[in-house]
Amino acid sequence: MSNTQEYVQWFRAAAPYIKAHRKKTMVMMVSDEVIYSDRFIGVVHDIALLNHLGIKLVILLGSRSRIDKHLAANQMEPRFHNNVRITDSETMPLVVQAINEVKTYFESQLSMGLPNTPMSGSEISMIGGNFVIGMPLGVIDGIDMQHSGRVRVIKHEAIKDLLALNHVVLLSNLGYSRTGEVFNLPTEELAAEVACALKADKLVFVQREPADANRRASTLSTSQCEELLAQADTPEDLKHMLQLAILAIQEQVKRVHIIDQQVDGGLLLELFSRDGYGIMVTNLFYEGSRAANIDDIGGILSLIEPLEASGVLVVRSREQMELEIRHFQVIEKDGMIIACIACIPDSTDGIAEVACLAVHDEYRRAGLGNELLQVAESQALKNGISRLYTLTTRSSHWFIEHGFSENRDFNLPAGKRASYNAERGSKILTKSI
Ligand SMILES: CC(C)(COP(=O)(O)OP(=O)(O)OC[C@H]1O[C@@H](n2cnc3c(N)ncnc32)[C@H](O)[C@@H]1OP(=O)(O)O)[C@@H](O)C(=O)NCCC(=O)NCCS
Repeated sequence: MSNTQEYVQWFRAAAPYIKAHRKKTMVMMVSDEVIYSDRFIGVVHDIALLNHLGIKLVILLGSRSRIDKHLAANQMEPRFHNNVRITDSETMPLVVQAINEVKTYFESQLSMGLPNTPMSGSEISMIGGNFVIGMPLGVIDGIDMQHSGRVRVIKHEAIKDLLALNHVVLLSNLGYSRTGEVFNLPTEELAAEVACALKADKLVFVQREPADANRRASTLSTSQCEELLAQADTPEDLKHMLQLAILAIQEQVKRVHIIDQQVDGGLLLELFSRDGYGIMVTNLFYEGSRAANIDDIGGILSLIEPLEASGVLVVRSREQMELEIRHFQVIEKDGMIIACIACIPDSTDGIAEVACLAVHDEYRRAGLGNELLQVAESQALKNGISRLYTLTTRSSHWFIEHGFSENRDFNLPAGKRASYNAERGSKILTKSI
């Protein structure tokens, strides 16, 4: 394939994702190891690109390694309890210094207009503020965590107002108390809490090292995350992320992504390619099918168009789809329709046509076709249907394996007979339910 064709193909493949992510809210935590690495300029471009594609971005910056560096320069040992830093009065000024240093560097990089790059001249308006009210973590297991804090309130309405105006919101992990004190909040936890407060569509962790390179480009449900948490060989860093991911998904964040920057553009691959790049945690895929609505027509048409073009499915116009959409069931993954079925009742006879069954070729042989057929059958039963029929040229065996049988004597309902194209030579199969 020539470079031009590859480019065109890539661009077409990315288009549904671009559409799906537009106007969605994404909370992204970038570790300071990424910020001070040679991969950072790529991340800056990608953030600019996401902003220009209409994604509402809230960014939080990690500062753990920067804080450790400052402590080491001052001959101080970092102290942690349960993986949370203990911030005492001696270390607090260094913590604040490190956090502000990371923030200033980040802002400067995003303000430079990205000369000589694809995003050259792009202006990003970034706004920060006192959106996080903190309170002390207190004494845990007899250890006073001092200036280490936790979230008390996130001013999510104020953040939403800024996002609606297309500003990127930059949050520091310093939380201010009602009494004027300053607390050091763990950034990963804060990112998860912000995503929950905003009911964000995505929570993204961008880090330098892979949490688990073996699991790249994988999708996990929260119950699979629980299983990984119970396994002794799951890396500790990954366990921490998975715990936060479970919490976020339970609080209605739709998807959590854990991405490393080992590959330039890992973030874009994760968000705009079908295979993804990092680890995605979601329960949406596992919720199975749902009734389609008018907004799904575009997605269904993209799914079935290649099958119509190759003659596997009968061509359906958008108008016909609009009339029939209430009879469709779909399965969605990451904002894309990956499978559909229609079960269209006939007005007279207690019979219905099973039509337009399609599973995206990358998701076949996983039982989705079977699942959709079962849903269609139970819906049909509820609607007083006792017999199903289908017309198929290439999938008769699939239907036979699902209880249909060929029926040459079957009289197609009058409406269907009128539109029946004998030249297709479709087989007619029926099933009593
Ligand atoms: C037919 C189709 C919907 C099945 O979807 P699916 O999610 O892969 O189905 P399931 O996972 O429930 O079943 C997969 C099994 O069916 C088999 N199968 C798939 N298509 C088949 C066909 N045309 N004939 C016979 N068997 C078929 C697979 O080989 C697999 O069996 P195996 O894993 O034991 O080898 C899917 O292949 C498809 O979209 N095909 C193109 C559109 C089409 O033909 N639609 C039907 C006309 S209305």
